[in-house]
Amino acid sequence: MPSSAVVSVDLRGKLHKIASGKIRDLFEVDNDTLLFVATDRISAYDVVMDNGIPGKGALLTKMSIYWFKYLQAKIPGLQTHYITNSLPSALDALPFDMRESVQTRSMQVRRLEVFPLESIVRGYITGSAWSEYKKSGTIHGIPQPSGLVEGQKLPEPIWTPSTKAELGEHDENITPEKARQMVGEGKARIIEGLSLELYKAGAKRAEEVGIILADTKFEFGHEGEQVVLIDEVLTPDSSRFWPKETWEQSLGGAQPSFDKQFLRDWLTTQGLKGTKGVTIAEDIVEQTAKKYRDAYERITGESYSE
Ligand SMILES: Nc1ncnc2c1ncn2[C@@H]1O[C@H](COP(=O)(O)OP(=O)(O)O)[C@@H](O)[C@H]1O
Ligand SMILES: [Mg+2]
Repeated sequence: MPSSAVVSVDLRGKLHKIASGKIRDLFEVDNDTLLFVATDRISAYDVVMDNGIPGKGALLTKMSIYWFKYLQAKIPGLQTHYITNSLPSALDALPFDMRESVQTRSMQVRRLEVFPLESIVRGYITGSAWSEYKKSGTIHGIPQPSGLVEGQKLPEPIWTPSTKAELGEHDENITPEKARQMVGEGKARIIEGLSLELYKAGAKRAEEVGIILADTKFEFGHEGEQVVLIDEVLTPDSSRFWPKETWEQSLGGAQPSFDKQFLRDWLTTQGLKGTKGVTIAEDIVEQTAKKYRDAYERITGESYSE
């Protein structure tokens, strides 16, 4: 990977920026189309770090495209926002090196109305679900069997939505019932059904290459009645990936992982959890990049190059 991280995108004003998330910048191509650019920024506990992970934006983009194609082949009728990984002609005039940097991090996507939900599916109990279960025996308010240990596989994958917070705010875990009230019964049922189907297809692929997909988050948008899978899909930013070989021996505690848990743990041990303005130590940057690369290579079966 290159040594410098791209933490902001400059298109020399050739496309209008309509939004900026923690990781991505969104530009208007036309009324129906966006340029969806993943920077190398990284966040943990909803706070964006000052430095990025070199190459991460390109990796997440490639991985999401891999999954869009894979899932579309597995789930007939699935609609996704992905259009193409080539750049719109408005960027033809960008200098070559800038074009390269933007191209590897971008896809053109359908511009949609976004549901205000993080559509989380959990197959294993960990993170905030484990914290809630320890207190109340529930996950997002859904009663669970007693005696589960941290990291255990749930009897069935469950849909555990959260709200999508504004930048700087925290997502809030909610019950499926609350999600139905928010987006309407019909749409919520479609989102739940699709999310579970997507999780199962993704988990099966991951399992084939020795990875447990512990949980993941999808987002959906819509155009009229049509519900469309948007955003990034099954990446180490949106998912917990655990190596299968160490899962059993790690039950009852933290699992080794190919995702940003490593960064979260470092922040916690440094007393920096939730702190703004953090610069990640160079060795943590490198090890995080390596974990992301490992996840990419195992899942896609291709060696990673930008
Ligand atoms: N097809 C789409 N149309 C409109 N907005 C989208 C689409 N796909 C994703 N988004 C939104 O773009 C943003 C992606 O940027 P990101 O940095 O990942 O944001 P966040 O900080 O919310 O994770 C999210 O707010 C997501 O809901
Ligand atoms: Mg996001």
